[in-house]
Amino acid sequence: MVNKKIYIAGHDGMVGSAIRRQLERKGYKNLLLKSYKELDLRKQEDVEKFFLKEKPKVVIVAAAKVGGILANNAYRAEFLYDNLMIQTNVIHSSYKVNAEKLIFLGSSCIYPKLAPQPLKEEYLLSGYLEYTNEPYAIAKIAGIKMCENYYKQYGCNFYSVMPTNLYGINDNFDLKTSHVLPALINKFHEAKSKRKSKVTLWGTGKPLREFLYVDDLAEAILFLIEKVDAKDLYKKEITHLNIGTGKDLTILELASLISDVVGFKGEIEYDASKPDGTPRKLLDVSRINKLGWKYKTELREGIELTYKWYVNSIKNYKLKIIK
Ligand SMILES: NC(=O)c1ccc[n+]([C@@H]2O[C@H](COP(=O)([O-])OP(=O)(O)OC[C@H]3O[C@@H](n4cnc5c(N)ncnc54)[C@H](OP(=O)(O)O)[C@@H]3O)[C@@H](O)[C@H]2O)c1
Repeated sequence: MVNKKIYIAGHDGMVGSAIRRQLERKGYKNLLLKSYKELDLRKQEDVEKFFLKEKPKVVIVAAAKVGGILANNAYRAEFLYDNLMIQTNVIHSSYKVNAEKLIFLGSSCIYPKLAPQPLKEEYLLSGYLEYTNEPYAIAKIAGIKMCENYYKQYGCNFYSVMPTNLYGINDNFDLKTSHVLPALINKFHEAKSKRKSKVTLWGTGKPLREFLYVDDLAEAILFLIEKVDAKDLYKKEITHLNIGTGKDLTILELASLISDVVGFKGEIEYDASKPDGTPRKLLDVSRINKLGWKYKTELREGIELTYKWYVNSIKNYKLKIIK
């Protein structure tokens, strides 16, 4: 397996770069990498040519248009178009060159807004989606269904994984487009640097969320590449696998944890006039746990590692926010 040609679509992103680090650590040398600048995955002809030339054996689809609630809602058409195009081109081209395995990355927003908690894989398509990220979720659901039906019609060893909220090295800290955890790191760091006495956060702080350190996700992906095939899931009528810690905490608890790690000494205030979002979002991870994978990095340790990287990146002018 270590010598197989593995294409990581989106290797510059937070998830793709973590998968690359993990594969390199484990001795995988034949990695196929192409930046967005070199290959726009929305362009079908270019993608087909690339696959015909390179013929990767294993494909990991970690390229996507990704963002927080504001970006998802503001760029609804782009979130639908870009994601549908990227994943459709990569999945179809992988089929055409007979790739031996493909893992497609989705996200927990595929589940209905009012589904019971924790979210089990079988709740997919059992109700209405959350409006703000509906276009993104619809694209991801199409990706799950493509993998499932390419297996059913063509026997392709393609399947999908749904990670919970991720954070870590190479995260996006731009307040306009980021997810909650990196946004909080940014806010508390700025407040500490500017010696502010107070940080105001949106909502009541009561919603519950789950977070997984991205290097743990990368370990899960490697575990799946080596040990789990599409037939292992589809024969049990499972279309995808949840990946998370199975543990959640309130935004309030998360904010105090981050403020503590950052060393912000001021007060945290909540603006309850701003929306809270879904009250709870926790994945049921018993399936992947039973298959043999479990998370390793506790939240405090993961936040410490991420904050250290963030501070160094600001110093080195490497951060996306400054790019
Ligand atoms: N972040 C999370 O919390 C989270 C949670 C669950 C699931 N996921 C899933 O994990 C995957 C990766 O997310 P991420 O957080 O790593 O996002 P990210 O950091 O934004 O990475 C996405 C990558 O895709 C590339 N890309 C975007 N459009 C492209 C195009 N048209 N052609 C070629 N490359 C393109 C980006 O290139 P540039 O860097 O050059 O823009 C970037 O390298 C997504 O499928 C997402 O749904 C993420």
